Amino acid sequence: MARPKIALIGAGQIGGTLAHLAAMKELGDVVLFDIAEGVPEGKALDIAESGPSEGFDARLKGTQDYADIAGADVCIVTAGVARKPGMSRDDLLGINLKVMKSVGEGIAANAPDAFVICITNPLDAMVWALQKFSGLPPHMVCGMAGVLDSARFRHFLSVEFDVSMKDVTAFVLGGHGDTMVPSVRYSTVGGIPLPDLVDMGWTTQDKLDAIVQRTRDGGAEIVGLLKTGSAFYAPATSAIEMAEAFLKDQKRLLPCAAWCDGELGVKGMYVGVPTVIGAGGVEKIVNIKLTKDEQEMFDKSVDAVKGLVEACKGIDDSLA
Ligand code: APR
Repeated sequence: MARPKIALIGAGQIGGTLAHLAAMKELGDVVLFDIAEGVPEGKALDIAESGPSEGFDARLKGTQDYADIAGADVCIVTAGVARKPGMSRDDLLGINLKVMKSVGEGIAANAPDAFVICITNPLDAMVWALQKFSGLPPHMVCGMAGVLDSARFRHFLSVEFDVSMKDVTAFVLGGHGDTMVPSVRYSTVGGIPLPDLVDMGWTTQDKLDAIVQRTRDGGAEIVGLLKTGSAFYAPATSAIEMAEAFLKDQKRLLPCAAWCDGELGVKGMYVGVPTVIGAGGVEKIVNIKLTKDEQEMFDKSVDAVKGLVEACKGIDDSLA
């Protein structure tokens, strides 16, 4: 059987890391696409030259030609620009919307059967636009945010409790922004829900609240440290986890920005929810029950995403 083909649209910081991880894990052959001439070719060659030492079997190619992604099984999209000082939210939306249009058309023409994972920000609005522009079935297009936000939450919790990260499960729901909802009730250490651990005196409510807030600010914390860029190791690893779940039909239960059709009270839009990812793409949305307070926080987050989607419609008439 031929190896799977993984197309990475955008060969910047995250794209390069995705290529490295995909090759090291032998998930398939990798095509790096970018408009910046030489960058995808250089990164593909550099990573390929690490193959003999690492011992992986994967071919890597860099390109500026969408024809090279033909037949890709997975497309991971990081193409776009980051917000720079002086740029308004609408400026960023306008620029990245245009990028999503060209990427969506490129995927539709060359890899219409692919499972598409969008990482470009503002995430929930961009994945919505990418699905519209590509016309791919909604369950085959999703956004990576929840796995990353949950991984940040899990990391902070494992440090607080001084236990292995493997034993910490956590969910972050809602939009990928300030209003995201780290779900305390559904997060556990070794199966014990966080509120019980507070009752047991293993941590305090104040410490837990601070961890929740640090999770919400997780992206900004990295930007503040790096100064000239945003996070790329953990975002790439998170998207690879989703791609692997699809390619190996793992049926992983992972939070991601998925097309909701009534689940958790959301209709006709993309937002972060628990999903099952397998060979069928987003095979299921887990319609968890929220408490009144949780639902209020979640609805607020959904409203923030709605605002971005409306702004997209205002910028590009074809989306209205
Ligand atoms: N088609 C293909 N590639 C494009 C296009 C386009 N129309 N426009 C820009 N690019 C490429 C750039 O040339 C650059 O190499 O997208 C790449 C983006 O890479 P970086 O700027 O390094 O950004 P990165 O850190 O990888 O983040 C990518 O993910 O988390 C989000 O906010 C982040 O939106 C950003 C995205």
